[in-house]
Amino acid sequence: VIDVRKLYAQTGMFTYDPGFTSTASCDSALTYIDGDKGVLLHRGYPIEELSEHSSFMEVAYLLLRGDLPSKDELDKFVWTITRHTMVHEQLSTFFRGFRRDAHPMAIMCGVVGALSAFYHDSTDITDPVQRMIASHRLIAKMPTLAAMAYKYSVGQPFVYPRNDLSYTGNFLHMTFSVPAEEYVVNPVIERALDRIFILHADHEQNASTSTVRLAGSSGANPFACIAAGIACLWGPAHGGANEAALNMLREIGTPERIPAYIARAKNKDDPFRLMGFGHRVYKNYDPRATVMQKTVREVLSELKVSDPIFDVALQLEEMALKDDYFAEKKLFPNVDFYSGIILSAIGFPTDMFTVLFALARTVGWVAHWNEMISDPEQKIGRPRQLYTGPAQRPYVPVAER
Ligand code: ACO
Repeated sequence: VIDVRKLYAQTGMFTYDPGFTSTASCDSALTYIDGDKGVLLHRGYPIEELSEHSSFMEVAYLLLRGDLPSKDELDKFVWTITRHTMVHEQLSTFFRGFRRDAHPMAIMCGVVGALSAFYHDSTDITDPVQRMIASHRLIAKMPTLAAMAYKYSVGQPFVYPRNDLSYTGNFLHMTFSVPAEEYVVNPVIERALDRIFILHADHEQNASTSTVRLAGSSGANPFACIAAGIACLWGPAHGGANEAALNMLREIGTPERIPAYIARAKNKDDPFRLMGFGHRVYKNYDPRATVMQKTVREVLSELKVSDPIFDVALQLEEMALKDDYFAEKKLFPNVDFYSGIILSAIGFPTDMFTVLFALARTVGWVAHWNEMISDPEQKIGRPRQLYTGPAQRPYVPVAER
């Protein structure tokens, strides 16, 4: 590891690394990834064990505070989060300003940023207590705002949070209950969704987390920073991939059509890529995809649905992994390959998938934001550039051009 700050101070040399393929933008104690071995650890704990034994709230506590909570600490944390789930009534008027067919991520960018207009105390980022309150508010209010975005799109009334339900159970309730019929939370579905949230909670310096850090490095308030993260996550190369993956699987439709899509993905003249395949860091299997594949089976069997798209996904994975192109480029299914099938089976429309990702990733975003602000050496993020424009030239008045 070369500390280029020292290199620059000593020699004036700086590095050129678009896409940050080999440049660390910060140090962090939250998450460790070994992309060659397919390892993902949060604060030292493997993702497989966390997703098997922990709840999303436990993982949130772990990422935010550094250690797994005792039973008392967890109860207190859950109590705190639960008490922050309501949003200001006036926020509902923000939703009504959007077209009904607005993408819910467009709505989320707006309403999460707007939280800074409601919680002035949380905009004091110099106070660690206020920073933690802001983090709790964000983690707690994301499910409420996400459910409201969904309700608005389907023309149903907003459903208020219920404090007697779990974090994930309450989200399902706010999303699927209607005044005439309370949604009965199925524990298998609740657990599966909670696991999806765990798998998406953090992934070190991905594009959206780096965006949150960069925005936060200027001293911007936490709500504005998370809104910036949501905007970045929306892109199809990042959080939008699960929506794109499911759309692709539906378009393929039947196993006989898979070879044609594999051929397209390999054709350099065709911009098409297999969505849900490939990862900047994992050059071996994405460990989250393994857990996700197992969870699809559990959900489909609980709901007693046999989704032909799942067979297409399994066969596409098998055929791609046998193909030299994908082997050479080390392209494997990523976390997004299977998640869309589960979310769709639960009843979420595809345009809500990235919203669910944002809900879960808020935990990682606020944990990184806190870590960065607490660092006494923290500086404003200000990348350098390699200038490729014209050299200095004389200005020519408009009449003479
Ligand atoms: N299908 C076909 N070819 C691919 C794919 C794919 N899904 N992904 C990468 N490649 C090829 C590229 O064409 C490139 O080939 P080349 O070397 O001949 O030019 C090579 O593999 C390397 O690809 P890059 O785009 O340079 O790799 P990078 O690390 O920048 O991109 C990314 C990673 C964006 C995830 C990419 O694999 C991709 O676009 N995948 C599909 C979208 C996706 O699933 N995104 C979700 C990521 S996970 C997440 O956000 C939670």
